[in-house]
Amino acid sequence: MRKSLLTAAVAMCVLVAGTAVSAPTVAPAVVPARSPLAAHPPGAVIASAHALATDAGLRVIAEGGNAFDAAVAVASTLGVVEPESSGIGGGDFFLLHDARTGKDLFVDARETAPAAVSAAQYLDANGHLDHDKALDGALAAGIPGAPAGWAWIAEHYGKLSLRQDLAPAIAIARDGFPVYARMVSEYSERSTVMRRWPATLAVYEPGGKPLAVGDTFKQPELAATLQALADGGADGFYRGEVASKIVAAVNATGGHWTLADLSGYRVKLREPMTFAYHQWHIVTAPPPSSGGVALAELLNILSAWDLRAVDTATRVHLIVEAMRRAYRDRTFYLGDPDFVRDMPIARLTSQAYADQLRKGIAMDKATPSSSLPGVAPAKVGAHTTHFSIIDAQGNYVAATLTVNTTYGSGLVAAGTGVLLNNEMDDFALQAGVPNAYGVTGYDANKVEPGKRPLSSMSPTFMISPDKVVVLGTPGGSRIITMVLLGILGFDDGLTPQQVVALPRFHHQYLPDSISLEPHALAADVIAKLVAMGYRIDQRNKTWGNMQAVEWNRRRNTLSGGTDPRNPVGKVGMQRMNLTP
Ligand code: GLY
Repeated sequence: MRKSLLTAAVAMCVLVAGTAVSAPTVAPAVVPARSPLAAHPPGAVIASAHALATDAGLRVIAEGGNAFDAAVAVASTLGVVEPESSGIGGGDFFLLHDARTGKDLFVDARETAPAAVSAAQYLDANGHLDHDKALDGALAAGIPGAPAGWAWIAEHYGKLSLRQDLAPAIAIARDGFPVYARMVSEYSERSTVMRRWPATLAVYEPGGKPLAVGDTFKQPELAATLQALADGGADGFYRGEVASKIVAAVNATGGHWTLADLSGYRVKLREPMTFAYHQWHIVTAPPPSSGGVALAELLNILSAWDLRAVDTATRVHLIVEAMRRAYRDRTFYLGDPDFVRDMPIARLTSQAYADQLRKGIAMDKATPSSSLPGVAPAKVGAHTTHFSIIDAQGNYVAATLTVNTTYGSGLVAAGTGVLLNNEMDDFALQAGVPNAYGVTGYDANKVEPGKRPLSSMSPTFMISPDKVVVLGTPGGSRIITMVLLGILGFDDGLTPQQVVALPRFHHQYLPDSISLEPHALAADVIAKLVAMGYRIDQRNKTWGNMQAVEWNRRRNTLSGGTDPRNPVGKVGMQRMNLTP
């Protein structure tokens, strides 16, 4: 149906164009005047999960920086003000668009496994996966990639120095910022583990009491570590005093890191995943993210239907059936491309494969996951963060950053203020045994020295003939379905603020149920889905924290959306001097 509408639209243009040639007086009344596409945005726009981070990005732009400088400023500031989600001790994915060359680049600053890693380290005395080792403390941490990512982007793409880009984060770490409710509630969930380490307690319970809303949270040791990075570049973190302190802290608490693990860390530059959906050119995350492959598979399946022309229950049903199939495939085949050479990406992302999958979807009936071959349940995680930037030169950045679950491993490396991630839990640490989130282990994502764990983080661009959209969100395996719903929302013509506020539903093959946010679907729609055979998992909590920005090139306007589920997020804009 959609195809026939598009065909009709094209036919009308041809007809009108023909008419215009033979009878030019008629044409202007039929064809609305189309303003030309703007070559440059009228300013810069940033959406992030914290107002201080958005402001940090706008500040470096005001100082003469570009979107890439702003990305370093926003990422480093988020690490200071949103330590529960990301930070210098974690790993980041950056999707960059360089206006000068027109090229897109994926900067993979994901954590790596240390050289001394072995799957046996994560087993208990009975040979079972020990979730405490996988999630809490030194063994749970991968070698951080974030600082290398920031230094690389500032050096190769920024206009300012790394020192200028990190200045806002350093000042906020040193002088402090007001503690907000989410920081406190998530700390209280994680504090039993975090209290194991005196260095963590010294940061998060200064004066012997947990931080409370409105307290000023100062992190002087983190400020000094950020300063070492600013002064020394990546070596300021990965070599010398900071590196020695981190390795000593990890090894004193049960880990097995060496100085060479840190000095040997490198960002990886990768070709983004690209594919078409309707009029959109989608640019998104390649492996070691599973996001791009899954999104291509999802949207290839959905592209044959006009989702605007069906009732809500049918729309949800078709989207869920696509989710079910894409999630079955995602954890089964994917891993770090530097280790797993035989990923069937071309097949998973081909239209022919999607066409074959679509044939198995009935228009009015749920497909039980158990009837599909292969069993690969996927995990649900809650933390991580995302920001989106467009600048006045037409550069854009989508970045998703993480320490994995809330407050990462909970271990602050003594003397550095660096809260280490627990990204090792993103590996399939024991073959065939689900981890804390239900991930079943497969070879493609088994743990190996130097390897990056499989991720769901999906920073994404959507480019149409007259719009540029930058979007992404945290949320573990739910990232992919949130980005999918975001893409569909933009395709439906919604604004960024409408898209980030869209109610969310999620299906990930197993468990075989549709998760719903509170009030996501009306009762009659739920009743129709139940009649089709669905089990509904009505959650009492929302998920995600989407940040999206848009440049409408026809109107030459910028807009943004920050997830209303997150009260400290902010869209900020900066008008630039555009005098040619
Ligand atoms: N640690 C969350 C992810 O990378 O998907």
